[in-house]
Amino acid sequence: MSTFTIDSATSRATPTPVPGKRMTVPSIRARKKLGRTDEPLVMLTAYTMRMAQLLDAHCEMLLVGDSLGQVIYGLPSTLPVTLDMMCNHGAAVVRGSWHALVAVDMPFGSYEGSPEQAFASASRIMQETGCAAVKLEGGEAMAPTVDFLNKRGIPVIGHVGLTPQAVNVLGGYGARGKTQGEADKIVADAKAIADAGAFAVVVEGVMDVVADKVTAAVDIPTIGIGASANCDGQVLVTEDMMGLFERTPRFVKRYADLAGEIGAAAAAFRDEVRNRSFPTDEQTYRPKG
Ligand code: KIV
Repeated sequence: MSTFTIDSATSRATPTPVPGKRMTVPSIRARKKLGRTDEPLVMLTAYTMRMAQLLDAHCEMLLVGDSLGQVIYGLPSTLPVTLDMMCNHGAAVVRGSWHALVAVDMPFGSYEGSPEQAFASASRIMQETGCAAVKLEGGEAMAPTVDFLNKRGIPVIGHVGLTPQAVNVLGGYGARGKTQGEADKIVADAKAIADAGAFAVVVEGVMDVVADKVTAAVDIPTIGIGASANCDGQVLVTEDMMGLFERTPRFVKRYADLAGEIGAAAAAFRDEVRNRSFPTDEQTYRPKG
């Protein structure tokens, strides 16, 4: 179990014991050998320095997901998320982590126009945050962009299946791959992204048989979310799995009840303020002597 102190000069987290070197793109990529990842990869979302500190030792990858639009900013979808938001949160997560590879989502509208637009956005994200990789949504249509970025020093994680930035085209957030045509397209998308040089691919919200086909079809790690236990790794939105929301999607397992804990702490504070039992002597400054 690591503990952390903050270096006040740099705002940098200093974990004890100091971990080894940060995970790299080749080290993540190399975890899949002969079509298999012996130990599945662990990825969680993080949007803040402190959450990154707490998760870092337990994950190979931290994802600064554009899900922060909904989780942090209360937006109705990921579509209004901006490059400024991703850069600010990405930099905080890099400052709060030492071990995990940090990947930052490219927000809607920042990369789809052309490979050149994607390069301008991705290079800004990398320069301003210090992250090691970006993630973008889309399959065959995005393959030339993945190739363009990869050849110019920008490692890319793909994202296929349910792609939330395409919610208006898909018509909702339902699971994908229910028809043969949809299933074939998801496999083709993943292959195209892998062939274009992505080093991993998130497979979201698909029938488990489709996720298994994708995992068998590509030689890069597949990271499942609402996909299949056979993926090469798994990712969840941290606030979902920590129980910060009352309602969670079916594919989320809740590992804690932070909403309950926070509500109970706030109620205890409220009661003690109202009956004047907080602050006590212990929390009060008094002149000495
Ligand atoms: O934005 C995000 O958090 C994501 C994960 C759910 C994979 O893309």
